[in-house]
Amino acid sequence: MKILLLGSGGREHALAWKIAQSSMLDELFIAPGNAGTRNHGKNLAFSPTDFESVKKHVLELSIDMVVVGPEEPLVMGIYDYFLGDPELRKVPVIGPSQLGAQLEGSKDFAKQFMSRHNIPTAKYATFTQETLEEGLNFLANMKGPYVLKADGLAAGKGVLIIKELEEAKSELTSMLSHAKFGNASKKVVIEQFLTGIELSVFVLTDGESFKLLPEAKDYKRIGEGDTGLNTGGMGAISPVPFADAAFMDKVHNRIIVPTVKGLKNEMIPYKGFIFFGLINVKGDPYVIEYNCRLGDPETEVVIPRLKSDILDLFEGVATNTLSERDIEFFDKSAATVMMVSGGYPEAYEKGKTIYGINSVLESIVFHAGTSSDGPSVLTAGGRVLSVTSYGRNLDAALEKTYDSIAKITFDGAYFRKDLGFDVL
Ligand code: AMP
Ligand code: GLY
Repeated sequence: MKILLLGSGGREHALAWKIAQSSMLDELFIAPGNAGTRNHGKNLAFSPTDFESVKKHVLELSIDMVVVGPEEPLVMGIYDYFLGDPELRKVPVIGPSQLGAQLEGSKDFAKQFMSRHNIPTAKYATFTQETLEEGLNFLANMKGPYVLKADGLAAGKGVLIIKELEEAKSELTSMLSHAKFGNASKKVVIEQFLTGIELSVFVLTDGESFKLLPEAKDYKRIGEGDTGLNTGGMGAISPVPFADAAFMDKVHNRIIVPTVKGLKNEMIPYKGFIFFGLINVKGDPYVIEYNCRLGDPETEVVIPRLKSDILDLFEGVATNTLSERDIEFFDKSAATVMMVSGGYPEAYEKGKTIYGINSVLESIVFHAGTSSDGPSVLTAGGRVLSVTSYGRNLDAALEKTYDSIAKITFDGAYFRKDLGFDVL
């Protein structure tokens, strides 16, 4: 098969690494990719949201399947674009339809979907500029902390958790009346605050059946002990110690099955990954959010734990035969730690030369934000490298990753040294 993979982060490097191991692969292209993905295929310089370029390359290169990494092209409707084009119709896209991607693209859509299917999630109400007064009253009648969510995509920044009522009211006003998050905050979901520990669960579905992937936990805050600003993710572990069989049974029965069935019954085409952002409230799972793609950096531990041929699974998705495919995992733990640019998630510099990647032999170095300058690898983003290791347990995997990180340097490099602190 000839595969085109869309995206450029650590998630896409991990997918490229896995796809390159498939016995079914003839050629892999990544658009736009990064300095790491070029080791597994050919990088193509166009944006995943530039559908015309996607089409041109798919036709010119006789691509057999398109695998979509990030959410933007999905929310913009790349799946439907392919189906609606006579020249592209036969090329399967791994990723949901535009309507299915609304599970991530609209918090209000996701909440309504969950309430139709009795899927456990925080209680909520949705407001617009026209109903701002009701929204302010709603806040006044609830207890804090107040959870305010911009309805649309806001690059991971659209969720505010606020202690004080007055501040919550002023933020609600600025989201609805002053477009704090642009169009994304034309609607705002206000939610009950849930207390618990979070984890990420992933399935791959062909719209009929699904395969569960290993669960993972990511670390979102920049500072140790989960302090400081939110980031795109500072590292991840898999498995998650508290996700035992009893808990995962509840996740399966109360959340995954009703979600996949709900999509099918509502005739929402969905052939791709579903990411369940869950919270464990005293042993019971609740959905915090859905995403229509794999997580980053969770993918950098989940995909290395997958033993099966990923293209066999994708072919199962494309041909509605996923239930006939086997899925197997390595019985090892995996941990990844993100090396980021100094200053991230605020202002940071790019273009720093990275040294030592090739001296890492015991871990897998996934590139998240890198570019190349001849043989040199340069920093090109806030999150730069995701260093993944296997271990007989999480402690062993983390120790290996920290040993490997010690061999890599670039100007201003920062990483968290406390991964797993809350669950180990
Ligand atoms: P989201 O973008 O929906 O994942 O929200 C970002 C983060 O806000 C989540 O990872 C949680 O840590 C937190 N969060 C979101 N919703 C809630 C909630 N209802 N209760 C407590 N924390 C929440
Ligand atoms: N790690 C969280 C996300 O990918 O959205």
